[in-house]
Amino acid sequence: MNRRPPEAPAARPIPPEGSGPPACPDPLALLAAHYPRGSRAFALLCRHGEQVAAKALEAAARVAHLRPDTQFIYEAALLHDIGIRGTRAPELGCFGPHPYICHGVLGRALLEQAGLPRHALVCERHVGLGLSAAEIAAQQLPLPHRDMRPVSIEEQIVCYADKFYSKKGGRAQARSLPQVLAALQRHGEDLEARFQRWVALFEPPAPEGAPCGSRT
Ligand SMILES: [Fe+2]
Repeated sequence: MNRRPPEAPAARPIPPEGSGPPACPDPLALLAAHYPRGSRAFALLCRHGEQVAAKALEAAARVAHLRPDTQFIYEAALLHDIGIRGTRAPELGCFGPHPYICHGVLGRALLEQAGLPRHALVCERHVGLGLSAAEIAAQQLPLPHRDMRPVSIEEQIVCYADKFYSKKGGRAQARSLPQVLAALQRHGEDLEARFQRWVALFEPPAPEGAPCGSRT
């Protein structure tokens, strides 16, 4: 498979005060607008989102020299799975008509409607390690044929952090780095190699003499 490595991150210029893109000061209120508070899906989204946000902010701290927007990362991490309600995932409390892989594009549509186009792209670009248009076509995935790979450092960070947390069986669970790598390897050496580039960027260096994959 011809997968492109993650974009080389570039340092962000500092925007003038007050000129940034729209923020979402209360992501939980936005989740609650689409999921009844107290529902299984709402509880899972909050727990999973907080887990991903915490990991993402750790990763952001490792690349502070690139000036990642940490407030945006926090908001986007809480919102990245907002599209699951439109999918068939009864174990998550979701009973929509679409396959689960569509939750990214569904989330993008919801957040664009909410006036949050930058957060919307995180939704679309966090599925797997991101999907190219060619991969979507080759695998005949039920998705629009457009590039869905994470581009900005913030998009890369949320996508990376998300891989460490699963919602399998309706339970928010953490996965160790060796578990993440093993899961990726099942989908091809190339995916694992791509992920390792993020590991090198976002994790502290392994102690001298430590075995591969021993950082988490
Ligand atoms: Fe997620």
